[in-house]
Amino acid sequence: MFLKSVILLQILLALCHGGLAEKMMRPKFKDIKIWSDEKMVSHKVAYDNSDPHLNFSMEVHQELHDVDVHLEVRISNKLDPYYTTTLNTTINVCRILGFANKSPVGRFVHGFIREYGNIVDSCPIAKGSYYINKFWWPEDPTTAILPELEFDIQFEALHLDANKKRTVIMNDHISGEFNVQDVSNLKPGIFAMLPKTS
Ligand SMILES: *[C@@H]1O[C@H](CO)[C@@H](O)[C@H](O)[C@H]1NC(C)=O
Ligand SMILES: *[C@@H]1O[C@H](CO)[C@@H](O)[C@H](O)[C@H]1NC(C)=O
Repeated sequence: MFLKSVILLQILLALCHGGLAEKMMRPKFKDIKIWSDEKMVSHKVAYDNSDPHLNFSMEVHQELHDVDVHLEVRISNKLDPYYTTTLNTTINVCRILGFANKSPVGRFVHGFIREYGNIVDSCPIAKGSYYINKFWWPEDPTTAILPELEFDIQFEALHLDANKKRTVIMNDHISGEFNVQDVSNLKPGIFAMLPKTS
């Protein structure tokens, strides 16, 4: 009798689970290589595929005068390498923070991320511990048929001293793929909060 109830319960749970599954385009990280200079900063990145979230932690050992972030991203269609999108840009973190503190959109995005931990909010960046825990971006279920994509991210942080001398303090290389998965743990966020139009 007891065993029967347990099996019934398991079937019910499986059915509910199936009913709640939604199609979602999610990244699958394959390789995460993290490097810090360990003199000015140390940092770590952790990712959980099953309950998707990112943790980021950074220890600033010496006050950072100014920081540039250099980002190179390559996204390509696995089946058709002709469809490749690349981004190659350098952003000044202190200028972004100035913008985040002044504009409403900037404050909104900054406020959204701030809920996940203790993040840098002004320059020069003071000595101390910064972290983002259990961060995930807002998701919306996918109905379109999307191609499988591969991504490759090169992330570099450079310290600029008072004489504008640049020193690499972080250098990360992250690769993986985006594919459509059936998920039952959708993370609703900003988009889900907006009123539905249908
Ligand atoms: C991320 O941080 C949270 C809270 O500290 C912890 O529960 C979780 O296990 C961490 N995840 C990974 C992938 O380390
Ligand atoms: C990105 O831009 C920099 C500077 O313009 C250049 O040196 C580098 O080769 C570029 N990287 C790629 C992958 O094109």
